[in-house]
Amino acid sequence: MLASAPNRQWQNALGSHDRVKMLACDNLRFLGDVADESVQLVVTSPPYNIGKAYEKSTPLEQYVREQSQVIEECVRVLSPRGSICWQVGNHVLDGEIIPLDILLFDVFRKHGLKLRNRIIWHFEHGLHGSKRLSGRYETIMWFTKGGEYTFNLDPIRVPSKYPGKKYYKGPKRGQLSCNPLGKNPGDVWVIPNVKFNHVEKTQHPCQFPVELIERLVLSLTNVDDIVLDPYMGVGSSLVAALLHGRKGYGCDIVDEYVEIAAKRIDDLNSGVLRTRPMNRPIYDPTRPNGGQKA
Ligand SMILES: C[S@@+](CC[C@H](N)C(=O)[O-])C[C@H]1O[C@@H](n2cnc3c(N)ncnc32)[C@H](O)[C@@H]1O
Repeated sequence: MLASAPNRQWQNALGSHDRVKMLACDNLRFLGDVADESVQLVVTSPPYNIGKAYEKSTPLEQYVREQSQVIEECVRVLSPRGSICWQVGNHVLDGEIIPLDILLFDVFRKHGLKLRNRIIWHFEHGLHGSKRLSGRYETIMWFTKGGEYTFNLDPIRVPSKYPGKKYYKGPKRGQLSCNPLGKNPGDVWVIPNVKFNHVEKTQHPCQFPVELIERLVLSLTNVDDIVLDPYMGVGSSLVAALLHGRKGYGCDIVDEYVEIAAKRIDDLNSGVLRTRPMNRPIYDPTRPNGGQKA
């Protein structure tokens, strides 16, 4: 059993804290206490080595070396049917962009992991570029440990474009031509990033929108499975896991973020945590009510 961060009120308030393991510490220390092959999904977004408040920039070789150590531990704790989702953007060096998924791809392959999708996460808000096009996507590399893996498509289907469409000829004439549960969401996901007017915004500069992780949790894990985030920030991955009856493990090196994560989990348990619902249409100022459902 992992120790909790000191002085955490959340343990008492949480009640079901056997479903959460959280610690304010370095992730190699945290992972060292996690049993081999016990985790179904590792989902995370590491620092991009671009000098954010919570990181120090290092030479790229050192960055890759440090990432490799964490990835090796993640592979060790991953169950044979499990998945790793590494969400990254670009490192920027003297105005040149270096896509981190390209940089890290071989590290995962070296461990025998198999890339199933490179998901493009597209969002509309961010810095406006003046010397290059504004960056409006990041990627999620979804790897599985083996050839047999958990993948539940039905819980993440999205509405079909023409839900009532039927075959008009042939032996299936008159039957629905698409799945009544909806269609596969594809590998380009349009989900708002957490900027200042987002309902989930905390003081973390780059937190996951919970709905992004909900999709991964629902499709790549089953109820009671363990979801682990070794760079958990304010605990968005744990929130997504708990929302769907999974267990959430995570750590962050910044005490303050772990405090916020604990508060969010408390709020979730008390039914007062607000998250943007999965599949809510993107706000469109040109449509009545922004195109949102009433
Ligand atoms: C991109 S942010 C992740 C944010 C997170 N996805 C969320 O929704 O809040 C990366 C996080 O990694 C943390 N971090 C950096 N180095 C770490 C380490 N060695 N061990 C644990 N956490 C670390 C930082 O403090 C930062 O919060």
